[in-house]
Amino acid sequence: MVRTEFIATGMYVPERVVTNHELEGYMDTSDEWIQQRSGIKERRWAAEDEGGSDMAKVAAERALEAAGMEADEIDCIIVATLSPDHFFPGTGVFLQRKLGVTDVPCLDIRNQCTGFVYGLEIADAFIKTGQYRRILLVGTEVHSSGIILSTEGRDTAVLFGDGAAVAILGPTDDPDRGVLAVRTHADGRYAEKLWGPAPACVNKPFISKEMIDEGLTRAHMDGRDVFKHAVTKMPAAIHEVLEVAGHQTEDLDMVIPHQANMRIAQVVQKSLGLPDDKIYINIQRYGNTTAASIPIALHECIEEGGIQRGDLVGFTAFGSGFTWGGALVRW
Ligand code: COA
Repeated sequence: MVRTEFIATGMYVPERVVTNHELEGYMDTSDEWIQQRSGIKERRWAAEDEGGSDMAKVAAERALEAAGMEADEIDCIIVATLSPDHFFPGTGVFLQRKLGVTDVPCLDIRNQCTGFVYGLEIADAFIKTGQYRRILLVGTEVHSSGIILSTEGRDTAVLFGDGAAVAILGPTDDPDRGVLAVRTHADGRYAEKLWGPAPACVNKPFISKEMIDEGLTRAHMDGRDVFKHAVTKMPAAIHEVLEVAGHQTEDLDMVIPHQANMRIAQVVQKSLGLPDDKIYINIQRYGNTTAASIPIALHECIEEGGIQRGDLVGFTAFGSGFTWGGALVRW
């Protein structure tokens, strides 16, 4: 039986570090408020000419180097992002071009903070069916160009950050290793609980000065409702994949949660009964990087020795849509 294994990971975050204290200069907020509510101390902002595909290119090159592979050995690119370089075409083709390869299919998916888990589900199915053998799965986000640096936008501006990370996935014949289960969910009844109202093709025109003046281009969020749903759906997603794979919470060696908020991660940890060394949290340094958050955390956790060959690793995500999902991987 073929399973999907993680061949290598790579990440890139922009150089510019933006502390909570810097944000105090743009809006009525405080380091204390941000840290208390979210655990975030700083985040990265992309340079003026730096898009999601630029960041993903560096992350991909680092993963390719770690894997000892050339870019032309990749036979499919899947990009999860809510902040594409352009309305169309997708970020995948810009990334493909920047990697110097041609005629590799590029699939962009729009599943926000659950994007990496949705992407993993797709990649896993492609690999198991033999459709593709080497898939570059990317999470990349540039939030800094969409936030509003004033008190009006403070509820979301302080939470989000920029960054990219990738995983190179491929088949393994080892029945004891690889992706054991992935499950994804969505409930469109809550679409407007965390969304970007404009630009939008449902509006005519899809963008106007009024929309910009009304702040419709920034993320709009009902933070309390998002919090309430996230703290139940994220542990449930782990329980679901454990059950599918015939495992218990005690079997978990590491959980990589979507880095939405330190308090959400703490509830997930408590709910799953995990000790501190079995959940990886790096939101302090990067804020919420949406589709990039799980692969960035995964990469850093591996680099720090938090995941060893044979470990049972869980991913859990929740975000705009609402969408949520989990995955279980035997490393
Ligand atoms: N700085 C200071 N004050 C802020 C602020 C900021 N950056 N953002 C909002 N506030 C204010 C609000 O205007 C509100 O003021 P009011 O009471 O005068 O109306 C007040 O703070 C709300 O505070 P509180 O009730 O303590 O907020 P909270 O406990 O609900 O925390 C969130 C707010 C956003 C941090 C919290 O709801 C949350 O984490 N939600 C989940 C968000 C998330 O993870 N989103 C991504 C999911 S993928």
